[in-house]
Amino acid sequence: MPRTSSTVSFDRTLGLAVLRTPHSTYAVRVGTDGSPRHLYWGPALDADGLRALPGAASPAASSFEADAAPDELAPQTGARFGPAGLQVRFADGTRGAQWHFTGHHAEGGELRLRLTDRHYPLAAELCYRVRPDSDVIERWTEITHTGTEGSGPISVDRCDSAQWTAPALPEYRLSHLAGGWNSEFQLQRDRLPVAETVLTSRRGLTSHHANPWLALDDGTAGEGDGQVWSTALAWSGSWRVTVHRDPVGRTTWTGGFGHEGVGWTLGPGETLRTPVFAGLYTEGGFGAASRAWHTYLRTHVLPAPDRDRPVLYNSWEATGFGIDHPGQLRLAGLAARLGAELFVVDDGWFGARTSDRAGLGDWTPRPSAFPDGLRPLADEVHRLGMDFGLWVEPEMVNRDSDLYRAHPDWVVHAPTRDATELRNQLMLNFARPEVEAWALRTLDRLVRDHAVDWLKWDANRVVTEAGWPGHPDPDRLWIDHTRAVYRVMDRLRADHPGLRIEACAGGGGRVDLGILARTDQAWTSDNTDPVDRIGIQHGFSQLFPARAMAAWVTDSPNVTTGRTTPLRFRFHVAMAGALGLGGDLTRWSEEELDEAAALVARYKEIRPLVQHGRQYRLSGPGGVTAVHYASGDGADHAVLAWRPTTRFGHPPTALTLPALDPAARYLDLDSGRSLSGAALVRHGIDLALPSGDCASRLIRLRRSA
Ligand code: GLA
Repeated sequence: MPRTSSTVSFDRTLGLAVLRTPHSTYAVRVGTDGSPRHLYWGPALDADGLRALPGAASPAASSFEADAAPDELAPQTGARFGPAGLQVRFADGTRGAQWHFTGHHAEGGELRLRLTDRHYPLAAELCYRVRPDSDVIERWTEITHTGTEGSGPISVDRCDSAQWTAPALPEYRLSHLAGGWNSEFQLQRDRLPVAETVLTSRRGLTSHHANPWLALDDGTAGEGDGQVWSTALAWSGSWRVTVHRDPVGRTTWTGGFGHEGVGWTLGPGETLRTPVFAGLYTEGGFGAASRAWHTYLRTHVLPAPDRDRPVLYNSWEATGFGIDHPGQLRLAGLAARLGAELFVVDDGWFGARTSDRAGLGDWTPRPSAFPDGLRPLADEVHRLGMDFGLWVEPEMVNRDSDLYRAHPDWVVHAPTRDATELRNQLMLNFARPEVEAWALRTLDRLVRDHAVDWLKWDANRVVTEAGWPGHPDPDRLWIDHTRAVYRVMDRLRADHPGLRIEACAGGGGRVDLGILARTDQAWTSDNTDPVDRIGIQHGFSQLFPARAMAAWVTDSPNVTTGRTTPLRFRFHVAMAGALGLGGDLTRWSEEELDEAAALVARYKEIRPLVQHGRQYRLSGPGGVTAVHYASGDGADHAVLAWRPTTRFGHPPTALTLPALDPAARYLDLDSGRSLSGAALVRHGIDLALPSGDCASRLIRLRRSA
């Protein structure tokens, strides 16, 4: 029987820290030099087993190699030649820390290993936290300047959250997410080279290009079987994870905020605390790893996990910047007819915002579009039975705005450098207290005055010329900007308990465990083409649950790709997440509107499974991919299957459903047929897809015996 509880303990005599989760064990031994060294991370191992583990020794020790076990945070001293997670410089120019282990603190599920430098006024705590119902281990680092005034600052070039170590495996394979705007979350799965492999964002945002999640296996794990070690960083600014596979077969990875360096000056008495870097060991393949992450996000990360994500309507693809009161009213009426529960007015409602050249920063309704303000629209949306949402981009400003004219110094800039404009906008420096206070005041008023239930918080550019004129430690803005964004979101939520926030950065440019701790869902990608979305959603689901994945049905041909797809296919793909509508409904025919209303109703029936159930990724023959959602008690099931392109001679045969119980019987709720669990598990279900491209099906099953 697996344990249900998780524990932390420390054995002083052995210098052995042990973290136990329901299905895994993690152990650290404090080395004779005072440095905590990695000992074990894998399936549950009892005390005898742990005691019997040899300290890791290099199989190729020589005068060119260290013989030491991998560090929990490598401190840039001694015969260590891998990437150093802690890089500090003292006032006399000396680099790196050398530790005394001074003790531990264990309380509840939290363990802290306490270290002080042998010569300089630097203390560190390596922190670990386990949760009762999860195999996820949360780790972070805190470093403190323990000197008195006058003892000189400590320069922190890098302070990672944690270093992780995989066991010795015959081979290593790395899974990670890469992409770009309109093509986020593309799953990459390749043999890990014998090298340092750097996954990073230098952009000040999590980025579309890489996501701070990775998984390691021995090259043989599949969706349903195999050991997987995976980690995810809870940070929404620049970050770096360096995976180091050495020539004698050891693999570690160290990661945290900042890219080449964090550039932080630590004064006497100051502490720097890193974000959480969470790690998970799972058996049962990539599918089990994803389900364990989804459960962790639901239980310990998302702020309101049990609330259903509403079916929303968003105006962006329909109206662009051509927004006005009558146009939004028309769309709201149609959205309500289709069954939308939330109406979100996107970009273009404020300031002088008739294009992307002006208005960002001026968060008051544009009089030419809303002569009586936004309140009448909000009231009408509420009267139609929907919540009211607004798009905002609080971190950004156009030069052509009243805010910029009043406070040109508020933007991130270096006075002697050209300020790069991206989408004609500059970035406000939220690290400045007066900017953070302005943002909170402005958003608070907006929410209050317009009875706003939902904010779509966007960020359409990244950091360049990262200056903070006049500040003695200007690189702080890389970290403090993100911290201020978090604080503003947290404060808004605390002051407006009903308010929900959707994370967005030009689509999926800022999706991570940090932002999802204060937002309800993320806008996955500006690419709403359902065929492209299948791949984007597949990558997204590796770490993030379906309830956090906003997915709209938009017009055909698609605005991004020009591809024409049936309405039903667009719905079936979007129903795999938090369904939304984003097309120009005024151009949909009566038949399309009726079909859409029926599909929205069908989505609401399966919503408890999609948003609160367990997810299994499936692929079948004939180019079919599918996602299966099961209720917690295993009684109810929904399968969404898609075949984007057809190929002569390769008709889809049956789709096997390995997550069902072979001993049970299931009722197909649409055909009324009773089906054998064993047949569904072993042979599969006949998809009966129509011929032609972009065929899809929703199957609903209920356990009957
Ligand atoms: C970003 C978002 C879009 C839309 C536009 C508005 O690109 O991802 O959904 O809100 O901004 O300018």
